[in-house]
This record gives sequence, structure tokens and C-alpha cells, in this order.
Amino acid sequence: MRWIDTLESAAADKLPEAVHRYYRQGSAAGVSVGEATAAWSAYRFRPRVLNDVSGVDLGTTVLGTPVDAPVLVAPSTMQRMADPDGELAMARGVSAAGSVLGVSSNAGSTFAELGATGVPWWLQIYIVRNRDITRRMLDAAVAGGARAVVLTVDTPVVGRKEDEGETVWDLVKPGQLLANLPAGDWSDDDLAKADDLNPDAIGWLAERTGLPVVVKGVLRGDDAKRCADGGAAGIIVSNHGGRQLDGSIPTAQALPEVAEAVAGSNIEVYVDGGIRRGEHVLTALALGARAVFVGRPALWALTVGSADGVTRLLTDLAEELDHTMRLVGVPAPSSLTPDLVATRS
Ligand code: FNR
Repeated sequence: MRWIDTLESAAADKLPEAVHRYYRQGSAAGVSVGEATAAWSAYRFRPRVLNDVSGVDLGTTVLGTPVDAPVLVAPSTMQRMADPDGELAMARGVSAAGSVLGVSSNAGSTFAELGATGVPWWLQIYIVRNRDITRRMLDAAVAGGARAVVLTVDTPVVGRKEDEGETVWDLVKPGQLLANLPAGDWSDDDLAKADDLNPDAIGWLAERTGLPVVVKGVLRGDDAKRCADGGAAGIIVSNHGGRQLDGSIPTAQALPEVAEAVAGSNIEVYVDGGIRRGEHVLTALALGARAVFVGRPALWALTVGSADGVTRLLTDLAEELDHTMRLVGVPAPSSLTPDLVATRS
């Protein structure tokens, strides 16, 4: 069996049931989380032949940062439940694979500690109602060396998880979460996610941090255009791994429309959700993504193999991508084009 496919059940053997469920689950009826991977597998390849693929090179850049392969790690919370070192072990694993790490604003490690690992990292931020909290987190992230700000926009309210019994919130200990929340006597209202955002938030973040801003959670071409017009440097086509609006369309289906809407601009398009194989990565790149993010597989790999597990996950996916590129007949990610894939009719 392929090692990546063993990870989720191996992680289940090590994790409390409530933590495993928290990582795995989607919101509401779980429609979107259930459809994500199948939507990638539904595409078919139209390979080229008699094309020299002896020198396949997966190296590329993301917002100017060189990466060994276009497979990055998505921001996710509760990493200290997977490994005692949490985000720091994740960072070491990502760094060894020559990739980039998305860091959740709810992380259980400080931005200074993360920066000290040397990993290139992007801050994922939720703008909260009390902007002073957000401002201070942004300043700390800049001081910790964040290279970009990822604004998650699919979470005006938190998706409903239909849990019964013990939850991860019963198990999480102080210090395992929210290591970057500025000291203060904050009310629930201060900390609630802002639900009055508009594209001006992009310029506000760029001005505050001096960093490129990536908007995460876009599923429509017209919204992608609004982000580009608002000054975004990148977009992540994402439905939050099916954890926000259940029944939102698979990212594999949304990506072509988004890529087409911003074609010709300098904006970089990324995608996440259900990407589990080299074939899925290749499909995403062909449909217009510059790189992909993986979420849950990185949490399973961190649980099972700590930093080394994360490195192996990323290098295994890169090897699969390399192999698939040779079979599709294309030597570089930048030469992958939409004509290489077809929708199955
Ligand atoms: C997430 N994700 C997420 N996204 C975000 O912007 N901020 C966050 O704090 C979190 N937290 C989080 C926790 C857990 C346990 C999971 C599984 C996911 C979403 C994440 O960045 C990404 O969009 C999806 O995980 C991608 O889908 P796959 O690869 O998990 O299918």
C-alpha cells in the first residue's frame, strides 16, 4: 500500500478519537469534504508523446520564494495535539523538503519560534472584530519573518461541526493553542471573526505589514477579480477543506473559472482541498495553479512521523508529480497547460 494512504489510519491509532475526528471532519453533513478528492480524480489526461522529458525539474517560486516542488503545507490549527512540538516540528519537516509553511493565526507556537526554525512561512490571519488584536498579531508575524499574509475569507462565522460526545476543545490544554494572541482582557466579541469585510481589507493588510497578501477561500471568478483589483498578490482557491460552507463546490471544479478570470494579471493562483496524489497536483497545475497546498495529510504525517514524516509526505508527492509529468510528456511545471486535462463526459 502507498505510504501516504496508510497515514490517516496510522494517525487514528495514535490520536485521541476526538482529535482524529477534529482533523478529519467537515462541517454540517460533510458533503464537501467527501467530494474533494473525487473531483480531482474525475479529470482525465491528454498526454503529449515524443516530448523530451529527460530533464524534469519541479523547482519553481511562490511569491518569489524558491521551492523544490509546487507542493506547500496549508495552515491548520491544533498541531500540538499531533506532536508535542506542534508547528515547530511541522516547520522543520517543511524546511527539509524545501517547501513553504502556512501558519495558522491560532498556532500553538510563537511567530518568533517559527521564524527561528528558518522555514519560509506565510501567516494565515483571521481579521477579528477588535482590530487592535489583529494589528498586534500582524506586527509580531512581521517581526518573526513572515513572507506573506494569507487572509482567510470563507469564515465570517465558523462552520458548524455536528459533534457528539468529547471534542477536541475538551482536550486542548492552555499553551497548545493561540500562542500569538496578544496579552489583554479580551471579550468573546473582541475575538469574534469580523463579518463585515470587503476588498479594502487587502490594502489594509498590505499597508500594515509591507507583505504580499494572499486571499484564501475564493471559489468564483468574479471574486478573484475583485481580489486582484483590491491589490492581492495571490489567491488560494479553497473551501477550507469542507470545514466551512458545506455543499460549496469542489475546488477542482472552481479552479478553471478562477484561473481564467485573473489570466493576464500578475496574481498567483493556488489551490487546496483533497489533493492526495501526484496526479492531482499535476491536474491543478495544468488548470492554472502555481502550487498546491495539502492540509490533512500533513497533520497525519506529523502525527505518525513528526518532522521526518512531513518531509517524507512532501518528497513522496513531489516524486509522484515528477513521475506523472514524464508520463504526461511535460518537463517543467510552467509548461503545464489546460489542454493536458479533459473533463470526463
Ligand atoms: C484547517 N484549515 C484552516 N484554514 C485556515 O485558513 N486557518 C486555520 O486555522 C485552519 N485550520 C484547520 C484545521 C484543520 C484540522 C484542518 C483539517 C484544516 C483549512 C486548511 O488550511 C486547508 O484549506 C484544507 O485543510 C485543505 O484541504 P485538505 O488538504 O485537508 O483536504
